[in-house]
Amino acid sequence: MEHNLEGMTIPKHVALILDGNGRWAKKRGLPRSMGHKEGCVTVEKTVEIAARMGIEYLTVYGFSTENWKRSEEEVGALMQLFRFYMVRLLKVASANNIRVRMIGDRTRFAQDIIDGIHRLERETRDNTGLTFVIAVNYGGRDEITRAVCRLAADCVKGRQNAADITQEVLESYLDTAGMPDPDLLIRTSGEIRLSNYLLWQLAYTEIYVTDCLWPDFNREELEKAILAYNKRDRRYGGVKA
Ligand code: IPE
Ligand code: IPE
Ligand code: MG
Repeated sequence: MEHNLEGMTIPKHVALILDGNGRWAKKRGLPRSMGHKEGCVTVEKTVEIAARMGIEYLTVYGFSTENWKRSEEEVGALMQLFRFYMVRLLKVASANNIRVRMIGDRTRFAQDIIDGIHRLERETRDNTGLTFVIAVNYGGRDEITRAVCRLAADCVKGRQNAADITQEVLESYLDTAGMPDPDLLIRTSGEIRLSNYLLWQLAYTEIYVTDCLWPDFNREELEKAILAYNKRDRRYGGVKA
């Protein structure tokens, strides 16, 4: 493991809201799409840093169910970047033993993107290092609604019994089924809100917000977040002994 976090607990699952690409570009008089492009470079670097630190799951918010509200031009630029980085990611993931998983409703994407997502997941499935989770066309409310729809359909088919539904059963229908909940949520660019991210999973996650704009995020910023995480007292509703 390579980091300056001697003796620190490394969170098993880190969730990221990578915000501020637009502001980063604006500050430089560049189009928003340039901010997204630079943001993708930062994502790639962060995945490698996280893997080397020993983080087991890294979940990044790449595109929300609400981001379709943006201009056609911006959405189009994001889709193009997505296409390009899916190919690159296949190489990065293979070279670093990274398993890639996508959460969110992929059915709204163009067919070539859907095929690319399947390929990435299939070809990295047996990798045993970091699990890199990308939330695309993801919304926490949408995820819970889709889960409940499938669960209700299974009840109708007699595969589930409505009276026996527990939190574990509902969880098994979420896109994140089988994954531990995030220990630490990092949001860049200063906004203190969840923006519909992992609403179920973040129930007891420690939240860290930095003013750093996403394209400027680096190893030092990640280390600062982990140091802050180590100072937190996670009580889960209990009382400190
Ligand atoms: C985050 O950066 C990337 C996406 C939401 C796709 P933004 O594009 O939201 O950047 P700001 O918030 O406008 O600076
Ligand atoms: C959250 O950022 C979504 C992603 C990072 C993909 P937004 O920029 O969309 O969030 P709001 O609009 O500031 O809440
Ligand atoms: Mg934003």
